[in-house]
Amino acid sequence: MTDKSRGSHRATPRATRRRFLAAAFGAGAAVALAKIGNGISFAEETASDVTTEVAAAGGTLVIPELAAKTDDNGVSVFALKAGTGTDTSLVSGTTLKTAGYNGTYLGPTIRVSDGEQVRFDVTNQLGADTTVHWHGLHIAPSNDGGPQNVIADGETWSPATTINQGEACTLWYHPHGLGNTADQVALGLAGMLIVDDGSAANAALPTAYGADDVPVIMQSMGVLSSGSFVTTNAGFTASGTTLKFLVNGASATDETPTLEVAAGRVRLRLLNASLVDSITVARSDGATVTQVASDAGLLAAPIEVSGLRITPGERAEIVLDLQTGTTVTLRATARSSTNGARYTVSMLEVTGTGTDTPAALPATLNTIDALDTTGAAARTFTFANSGNTFTINGVAGTSVTAMTNNMIMTTLGATEVWTLVNSSTTIYHNFHVHDVPFQVVSIGGAAPTGANLGWRDTIELPPSTTVVIRLKFTDYADSTFMYMLHCHNLIHEDDGMMLGLMVV
Ligand code: C2O
Ligand code: CU
Repeated sequence: MTDKSRGSHRATPRATRRRFLAAAFGAGAAVALAKIGNGISFAEETASDVTTEVAAAGGTLVIPELAAKTDDNGVSVFALKAGTGTDTSLVSGTTLKTAGYNGTYLGPTIRVSDGEQVRFDVTNQLGADTTVHWHGLHIAPSNDGGPQNVIADGETWSPATTINQGEACTLWYHPHGLGNTADQVALGLAGMLIVDDGSAANAALPTAYGADDVPVIMQSMGVLSSGSFVTTNAGFTASGTTLKFLVNGASATDETPTLEVAAGRVRLRLLNASLVDSITVARSDGATVTQVASDAGLLAAPIEVSGLRITPGERAEIVLDLQTGTTVTLRATARSSTNGARYTVSMLEVTGTGTDTPAALPATLNTIDALDTTGAAARTFTFANSGNTFTINGVAGTSVTAMTNNMIMTTLGATEVWTLVNSSTTIYHNFHVHDVPFQVVSIGGAAPTGANLGWRDTIELPPSTTVVIRLKFTDYADSTFMYMLHCHNLIHEDDGMMLGLMVV
């Protein structure tokens, strides 16, 4: 009932998989209107919607569809319907409630170009309030999708904007309500958002979506013995919890997905859409991989890395050169917020079938000029917790009132230097700010290296470590709508580790 077109997904198993996540998370048995532990109620599923399929049958990597766009007088319109579903294949014997955009788990990939006029028509069919935030997108606060943009059940929210990113980058979208972000992302509400620009460097990298330019949405998830996704810290370690590493919604824990690439080079857009876990990605043969982009844009130059540690909310782009017949296996290690390794899986097996030899990568991918911080205002944000209350500068941002009363106020055009202090000696946090990307000044007193020299919008804050960043507030101001800054461990965020940020 959340997806009237689902019938067409059943034409053949292959076609079904190509319709993306309906395959990995086919609908299960009929469920009555129910309210589950995380407070979201689900509308009724009808028996005629039932399909049961095996996650990533055949092992082929599930690739989210590209979101269809329609033209409305020069405006590209993307329709997203947030709806519910069920899955019976992830944990045998368990009917999991799920949610997705235009399907039953995750959402289509939205691909836009810098300068494009767009509108997102987001319809809520979840049976509960939701919001949709465009993580990393430079957009006005009134369109940012935070707790002030609640979409009531049955309603459509239609933010319109001109893509004004100035960078080719890999972003994503997900709910951002107060206290229910982890719950809703856990159900499957997340999708990738790709911004292209006209740069020669971006064009020199693979750009054929699904062929040699491939999204890899990684999620370290848990399923409670009681049959729902884990949405609390305790849930991950509770007895009977099944941990699963999902790649584009299918379980790599059960079967390593395979990807055949009919070209000599593939670009992988890695997104960590986990609630809590950092993920370290490396080749299983120990060889290096080439990273070309951090979170918020192409790096100045390609770098060779032995592995990438990607924190929740963060993205990275890598390229692999593949001679015909070469198979590269990527391994992922998921780590809890106290850095205990939960598990390692082979998350993707990439095989080259093409015969072309890729040209050398451009020596220069991007020009990143240091922001001028002469006279810049300085602020310090201290990340701490006492039990399950998580705070920034002592404030738990768990309500609009708490956020309003402790608003960080800045002005359009200001450049600022922020000192981010993780005062915990054991817990990893990370930092994400809306509106504009930042540059790293130092990490633990040391100058940044590698991908930390690129634009970022999310960065890990290891225990007892101070990270200094600089950022400049351009283009958008509003005296009613706020942006946010927070830890992107979604459980910490829901438990208060978030402040409002207003640019006036
Ligand atoms: Cu990905 Cu404020 O969020
Ligand atoms: Cu945190």
